Amino acid sequence: MRILVVGGGGREHALAWKLRRDDPSCEIIAAPGNPGLAALGRCEPVGATDLDGLVALAARERVDFTVVGPEAPLEAGLVDRFRAAGLPVFGPTAAAARIETSKRFAKELMLAAGVPTASARSFTAPADAKAEARRLGTPVVIKASGIAAGKGVIIAMSLAEADEAIDAMLVDHTFGAAGAEVLVEEFMEGEELSLFAITDGTHVLPFTAAQDHKRIGEGDTGPNTGGMGAYAPVATCTDALVADVVARVLTPTLRAMRDAGCPFTGLLYAGLMLTTDGPRVVEFNCRFGDPETQALLPLMASSLLEPMRAVAEGRSLAGMAPIAWRAGASVTTVVAAAGYPGTVRAGDAITLPTVPDGVTIFHAGTRRTDGTLVTSGGRVVAVTALAPTIAEAQRASAAAAAAVRFEGAQFRRDIGWRELARPR
Ligand code: AMP
Ligand code: GLY
Repeated sequence: MRILVVGGGGREHALAWKLRRDDPSCEIIAAPGNPGLAALGRCEPVGATDLDGLVALAARERVDFTVVGPEAPLEAGLVDRFRAAGLPVFGPTAAAARIETSKRFAKELMLAAGVPTASARSFTAPADAKAEARRLGTPVVIKASGIAAGKGVIIAMSLAEADEAIDAMLVDHTFGAAGAEVLVEEFMEGEELSLFAITDGTHVLPFTAAQDHKRIGEGDTGPNTGGMGAYAPVATCTDALVADVVARVLTPTLRAMRDAGCPFTGLLYAGLMLTTDGPRVVEFNCRFGDPETQALLPLMASSLLEPMRAVAEGRSLAGMAPIAWRAGASVTTVVAAAGYPGTVRAGDAITLPTVPDGVTIFHAGTRRTDGTLVTSGGRVVAVTALAPTIAEAQRASAAAAAAVRFEGAQFRRDIGWRELARPR
């Protein structure tokens, strides 16, 4: 079997790693890939948003199916192009990807379908947006409607801060077109969970939940990042919670997508807030999360390949066995470059340690120049450790992260801290 993986980050490395575990004879082609993916298969110099190049590559290489990692090619219509060319592909169409790429679309769909989420209204006129912020009171959440690389969300603690965020988006166009429209949203209090589900558009295979760590600093301090680590399983994610999310969030959302003429197939990521009123949706993503994927896939005991291939080929998931998980815990620690999450320095030589059993290093922002592995992005590698307990997995993950050497390397030693802080 030949599988094309589109993308070149830690998430894509983890996806390819798992697919190869599920079928060691499968051949991986990555576009554009990275040095970690190169060790599992072959990298082709085709960019993740080069739709023509990817269609041509998949056809030329006669790949059995294609897995799309990042949201950008999904938003650009890669899946639509592959389907039109008769090429099996795992991921949503551009219209279905709007569940992530248009916060307004997602919010209207959820509110119409009765899916629990923060109430929100969208505005293009600053005065109207500010009036809504006053009506809701603080804290209040101001969001750019489009994709703003995770930076388009401001939790305003004061009305002055809310006004400033609204003006930055609608008047100063800080986020460009993504902020031409803003959502003014009710603030939800609680603990966050990332819950993934593979779906054929109707049926779902939910994962166990993971928890991301968005802040750069230990104890969840400092600026937001793309994610400095993740862990699973999360004690708050019981079977009853998953069943509740399937019944009240995933099933009605998928039904509403079908009714809207844009059935969602692929991986639906529900970002949830566990409030005193139960789970409520913070946001949906139309793809696997990064770095949650690097924590979850090593913990997955059953096949990822089987349901992915079924969905890519347009088959139903009805009757497919639920996903099975290994015992124990998984902790992923991201090692980031100097300067991250601001402007990062690239080109620093990297030395990777030899890791013990149960530890895996996933490449993200790495590149090879003249045989030397060097940094080439903000998040450089993600180090995942499996162990019987979260505490042991955290120690093993941090120890291996500390042994990843390059100038200015930074990482958090406290990934999974919430789990360790729970009363037991
Ligand atoms: P988003 O890009 O929508 O996921 O928002 C980024 C982060 O902002 C989320 O992971 C939450 O931590 C926070 N956030 C977004 N919306 C809300 C909300 N309505 N209430 C509280 N926190 C929020
Ligand atoms: N880890 C958050 C995301 O992938 O969007």
